[in-house]
Amino acid sequence: MNEQKLKIAVLVSGNGSNLQVLIDAQKTAELPIEIVGVISNREDAYAIERANQAGINVAVLSHTPSGKRMKISTFEQHALEQLKQWQPDLIVLAGFMRVLSGDFINACPAPMINLHPSLLPKFKGLDTHARAIETGETYHGCSVHVVTAELDAGAVIAQALLKINASDTAETLQNRVHELEYKILPWSINLIAKGMFANGDKKLDLNNLPHPTCLPALPWKLAFVE
Ligand code: GRF
Repeated sequence: MNEQKLKIAVLVSGNGSNLQVLIDAQKTAELPIEIVGVISNREDAYAIERANQAGINVAVLSHTPSGKRMKISTFEQHALEQLKQWQPDLIVLAGFMRVLSGDFINACPAPMINLHPSLLPKFKGLDTHARAIETGETYHGCSVHVVTAELDAGAVIAQALLKINASDTAETLQNRVHELEYKILPWSINLIAKGMFANGDKKLDLNNLPHPTCLPALPWKLAFVE
């Protein structure tokens, strides 16, 4: 895995600004990755446009041929077929807004990571920025974690954190956290691509997260705090 590019598939639902960061990093070869495909569960996601512009395979899995919005089980069935075809080494959820079943996660041909806008285990689920302000947190940020059947509960690989300002609203905080996301996602993928989490057979293994014992325990935290 060390010399080769890490093949990644990205699942999206919306704007895709994190996808764009990965596309740019692939283009400049800053990251040793090849985005083998993008799956969107929404036909109106701007992420689709970004992938198209970069000439990346896109599968839009939003509606059935009869025009009905796909149930999650139908989405998963098609997504699985597509992923098996693309054969990624890693699946990245970057702004993917549906909850995936354990059966799907286990059947996927590669391990999966998610980018979540909070310092897990705090604030799983939605509206993380508003909830962090409401509860008077001092720090907030984002996490890259392994996806498991339990929502936002898999092992956290890395976190980036900032200090909440007194003047922050949910919107300003979200914007500030986005800037951290653009750092922590490529940073984490780089570690994975460099073989940091490869097992004895040099295969990516996010179940055990093996890493040299001379390094600090996970999650690794990047602080952007004055
Ligand atoms: C990010 O804030 C991410 O943390 C969350 O969804 C958002 C996606 O933004 N899971 P974008 O689509 O990458 O712009």
